[in-house]
Amino acid sequence: MGRYIIAGNWKLNKTPSEAGELAKALTEQTVGAGCEVVIAPSHVALARVAEVIRGSRIKLAAQNVSQHSEGAYTGETSVSMLKDLGVEYVILGHSERRQYYGETNQIINAKIKAVLAGGLKPILCIGELLEEREEGKAATVCRTQLEQSLAGISAADMAEIVIAYEPVWAIGTGKTASPEDANEIHVICREKLASLYSEELAGRVVIQYGGSVKPDNVRALMAKSDINGALVGGASLDAASFASLLRF
Ligand code: PGA
Repeated sequence: MGRYIIAGNWKLNKTPSEAGELAKALTEQTVGAGCEVVIAPSHVALARVAEVIRGSRIKLAAQNVSQHSEGAYTGETSVSMLKDLGVEYVILGHSERRQYYGETNQIINAKIKAVLAGGLKPILCIGELLEEREEGKAATVCRTQLEQSLAGISAADMAEIVIAYEPVWAIGTGKTASPEDANEIHVICREKLASLYSEELAGRVVIQYGGSVKPDNVRALMAKSDINGALVGGASLDAASFASLLRF
């Protein structure tokens, strides 16, 4: 079995107190999990969750970060601030950030560089819209997102990056890509990474699937050759359901 990472993206859910409760329940329920476990609470809950998961196997992620290191950027959070709290991963390029906050591949590229420079690990999300899939453009969209988001990133840095393939039409909709369709794009992403870097490196990159991953479909997805984990929204908000995902 290769390396698997299952990450829970809590999005705009859970107050710090509620996040602390959920994290506490997870520390108890993730003891025997055979994969890497990551949770991404909101920025304001990170400190509380970091305290609760200390000494457990759970790793902490943030859902976003500024590309700037400091200065006059009202409302923003820097990589060093996250690092100080014990954050290890940062989710970048999520389709909700692209769609609602105007994040382009160029902005995401700058954020990836800031995260890597600070010694944290990016989880780079890519994925096509429904109309792009219907027009047969899913593969092209994902290749372009990878190429532009990873521009100027060295092979050594690429080894620290996790990719999450999340078809936008499958996020929060209950419509999962079939394991075959998902794996097809994972293979295409790996081929793209091989052309940008090397076969060897491409073979080692963790590529997660995201989009309505649930306890009843996780096993079939994880059984596919090129799927190395999941980025989970809705099903990560309940301790029992997230814990059952980890036992795929
Ligand atoms: P979902 O979200 O599991 O609720 O579809 C996935 C994601 O946005 O990462």
